[in-house]
Order: sequence, then C-alpha cells, then structure tokens
Amino acid sequence: MCGIIGYIGERDAVGVAVDALERLSYRGYDSAGIATWAGALTSRKAAGKIDALKKLLSDSPLPASKSAIGHTRWATHGAVNDKNSHPHGNENVLIVHNGIIENYLLLKARLTALGYNFTSDTDSEAAALLIDYEYKRCGDKHTAIAAACESLRGSYAILAMFADSPDEIWCIRHESPLLIGFGDDEYFISSDIPAFLSYTNRYFRLSEGEIAKITKSGVEVFLTNGEKIEKSVEVAAFNAEDAKKCGFNHFMRKEISDEPEIISKLTKIYGKDGLPSLSLDNISAENTSHISIVGCGTAYHAGLYGKTVIEGLTGIRCDACVASEFRYSNPVIDEGELVIFISQSGETADTLSSLRMVKSMGAKSLGIVNTVGSSIASEADSTLYIHAGVEIAVASTKAYVAQCVLLAIFALDFAIKRGKITKNEAKSLFTEIENLKSVIESAVELEENIELVAKELFPSDNLFFIGRRYDYIAAIEGSLKLKEISYIHSEAYAAGELKHGTISLVTDKTPVIALFGDEELLEKTVSNLKEVSARGAKTVAIASSLEKIAEVADIVINLPKTNPMLSPIPMAVILQLLAYHIANMRGCDIDQPRNLAKSVTVE
Ligand code: AGP
Repeated sequence: MCGIIGYIGERDAVGVAVDALERLSYRGYDSAGIATWAGALTSRKAAGKIDALKKLLSDSPLPASKSAIGHTRWATHGAVNDKNSHPHGNENVLIVHNGIIENYLLLKARLTALGYNFTSDTDSEAAALLIDYEYKRCGDKHTAIAAACESLRGSYAILAMFADSPDEIWCIRHESPLLIGFGDDEYFISSDIPAFLSYTNRYFRLSEGEIAKITKSGVEVFLTNGEKIEKSVEVAAFNAEDAKKCGFNHFMRKEISDEPEIISKLTKIYGKDGLPSLSLDNISAENTSHISIVGCGTAYHAGLYGKTVIEGLTGIRCDACVASEFRYSNPVIDEGELVIFISQSGETADTLSSLRMVKSMGAKSLGIVNTVGSSIASEADSTLYIHAGVEIAVASTKAYVAQCVLLAIFALDFAIKRGKITKNEAKSLFTEIENLKSVIESAVELEENIELVAKELFPSDNLFFIGRRYDYIAAIEGSLKLKEISYIHSEAYAAGELKHGTISLVTDKTPVIALFGDEELLEKTVSNLKEVSARGAKTVAIASSLEKIAEVADIVINLPKTNPMLSPIPMAVILQLLAYHIANMRGCDIDQPRNLAKSVTVE
C-alpha cells in the first residue's frame, strides 16, 4: 500500500531516494517524504504526489547526505496531509513504514502515559516512538527493534535511522515485503525491485521477522533472537528497461503491448512437443477432488475464468473465491483439495492470509504469481510464475492475460493427466493457445476502431457489460478495468439476469456493451441486446460473427476469432484498450487512479 526506500552509498542519497520514490509511486501517491542523517536526523515531507516533495526540497533542501530513507504513502490511518506524511518519529529516531499497526491506539495511550507527544494521526508514529522508548530502555538497536515489534500487531516493513548512528539503516518486516539491493559499495532497501533496478539487479528478500543492519561496509541480517544469518543474493529476471514506458504515454498502454510476447513466453516455458508440460511438485491431477481458486480484484476475475476452463476440461468441481471473503468463511477443506492462489504482486494481504490458513488446514496450495520470490510464491507448496515482467500500472492488464493463459494450460495439463482429453485434442487446443499471440496482436490492431467507440461512450455516467458464460466472465473484468481508471460506474451482468431486476436501470443514458466471444450462446445474448435496445440503450457488440450482430447493435467491434473457451483473453485486450481510451478522454490519471494502489498489502 505504500512504497519505502532506504539508501546508503557514495551517491547523493536524497537524489537516489527521490528517484526511487518516483518508481515506487504506483504503490501509493497520497504524500511523500525523506529523512537523512547529516550531523542530526532531518526530514522533509509533503502531501500530494512526489512533485510536491520535489518542490519542497527545491525550496528547502535537505543537507547533503550519504544515507536516506523515503516513503510514498497510500493513506490508511490519518488524513492526507503534511503531518501524517512519513517519516515519523522524533529527534532520536525516524522511520518509514509500509503496513498497518492494528493496535496503535493502545500503544499510543501507553506511550502518551510515558510522556511521549504525538504529532500525527497515524499508526506508524506509534511504532517509531515505541522503538525510541525501547532503545532508551536497553541501549541496543537490534534488541530495541525486536522488542518494539514484539508489541506490534498487524503488518509492517520498517526502515529506521537513529540520530546517534550516522549512515546506518535498520529494517524489519512482517507481512509487508522488503528487499535489499546490492550495488557496488552501495545498498538499497525497498518494498519492490523497480525502486533500485536502474542501479542494480542483485538483491535478496528479507524473510518474516528478520532484522537487517545496513552500513557503508555492508549488510548484516539477524533473527529476532540476535543470531546472525547469511542470505544468498539473487539476480532479478528483468531489467530497468522493463520498468519504463518505452515510448507509450502510459505504463498501462505499454503493458498491453507486452501481452503477445508473454503468450509466446508462457507456451514455451510451460509447453513441450506441442503439449502442456507442468512440473507441479507433489500436486497430483489424479488425486485432486476439488479445486478452490482464491484471489482479489482482477486476480479473482482470472480465478473465475480458471474455474470455468478447469471444470470444462477436467471435470473437477471448482470454485472461485474472493480472498477477503474466503479467509473468514470457514471453508470446507476436504481430502484431495487443491487451493490455487492467484496474485500478480504475490503480497496481497487477504490472499496471503488465505494461503496461510489453508496450509494450516492441510490442503495443497499452488501459487500463480508474477513477482518472483514474493510471499505467496515462497509459501505455496508449488508456484507457477506468469513471467509477465514488471507491471507498474495500477490497473492490471498483462498479468490478467497471463494468468488466464496459464490457467488454460494448467486445465489442459490436468485434463490430459486425468484422461479427459486425447493427446490429439490436447495438441489442437494447445496450438490454439499458442495462436493467441497473433489473436491478441489482431485485437490490438483494432485500436483505432476502439478509440472511436470510446468517443461514443466516454461521457457516460453509467454503463452495462453483459454476456453469458465465458462472456460474463470477460464482462466482469472489463467492468472493473473501466471503473478503476475512468471512474464511470459500470455493472457486469449475466445477460440472462437482466430481466430479473437491473433492466429497470436501462435508459437512453446507459450504454450496454454485449460480448459475443462464446458463440454457442450468441442467439440468447442477441435477444438480451434487443431487449435493452428497445428501452433506448445505445448498444455496442464485441463479436466475431458480425453478420448475426450487425443489425441489432448500434456499434460493433470485430473480435478476432478463437476457441470460445479462450475468447475471454482477446476480449480482455479489447476491453482494456476501451477502458484506456475512455479514461484518457476523460482526463483521468490512468496509471495511478485516485484512491488506489498497486499492491494491497493490508487487509
Ligand atoms: C486490478 O486492476 C486491480 N489493480 C486490483 O484489483 C488487483 O488485481 C488486486 O489488488 C489483486 O492484486 P494482486 O494480483 O497483486 O494480488
């Protein structure tokens, strides 16, 4: 939910921190701040996006320093203003924090009784002053941090600087991610790799409860009991170029352009001799009796697709569940249960907590994740990476496409292993999955037509997406894409459900986008299109068989043809481009929509 950065080295630490915060701003952009050590601890912080901090630093520069910590905030506790911006603390210790301290009010009361004064409404300030209290009590930073965090409930990734220790940064994490990057005699500590990828691609992730001390001479990692441990440094699978717009106006549009290549990558990595080839450590297709797929937002929508394609190909009963509901629903976990966790970031709090819950219940877990080494990827029994590269835009596009493609490959693999499909049938479907590369390229080539449709729709305040079976699944994801970046209220409805209530909302002010990728049900949805058209709605049809649709829809977008079972994938690309252009015409902040953050690492 927030982005944090720490730097120690020979560069201008403030400049490095500002650069890193700009790259982390997709994690939260309500306010930003930086602290340095230059004889004493000092900081600058400002509400608003990073430009507000840059202006403040220009008007009132921080002293030159070789070490700094920085923070870009997605507000959880406390309004968006200067005083609630990070860093937090006092003249002895300053911290930046990503996460939520759930028991902060109790801690605040205790510290106030001990004579501490609070200057903000945030939970993070309580953590900072508690570290100060413990440090005064025991005089040892490691012990103080371990003792303070012992009292914290909730999630945290904390970087701390102490007035009595120049060019030294301490850090600890619980639930929220923290990585340490290794440059040439310089070190970076951050929530995510893009922060320091232009300086180094060598890093490791701090594990739960580990405490690290970073100085100019290196990095030491300890367990909370003080035991020093060694960690192996990894090399990131992507480079700084991946985390750039590459000539596009927005990360979202660049990431849509990545989609065809991702299809090729996935079918090469997870295919062999024209068939799926998945190595799923100790997850047996034959012994799986039921599958639950768990995720949030777009990842959940990929789960809806996974449910349909897995049931369709394997005959295994499958449920798709919103993680924030699943974790509190006392799910029934039977013998032979497989739970699949879908997450681009691999750090979404509700999804991670659901994983930990089912593991304690003895179910097999499979992660379908983008971020290598993330918590969900590390803790699932087995993980399949989607290899989509860094996804910066808050609205997920290429990750969704990659998740759906990988779920189709997974379903096909399971169907073969369970004898539900012949090798020839499987080869033919796998070839259609491989051909999605050209199908998606054809969808992107429709961009000019899609822009014209966006011109018709962008002034709308309300909009409906309708479809049946695979098209209903595509409609749900298309509706979220539109809502989160254009702020247009839209609903995705099973076309057959309209008559049971919501058609009462349809007027000449509510355009209806009808999806026709799942052609077996085309006639049924045509009837629904006629029903809404008769009530004045402007209708848009996205279909391959135009001849059957042209006379009933006001506007038609030609969906590149593919297997109905795979149709949500090109459909998603068209709806992503439609949402993108509508949001652009409405002047919305496409990559950083209001109130949102890329990775929801708090409940
Ligand atoms: C998608 O466009 C949204 N940004 C959001 O719904 C996202 O998919 C959700 O927060 C899940 O994130 P994850 O895939 O990193 O777990």
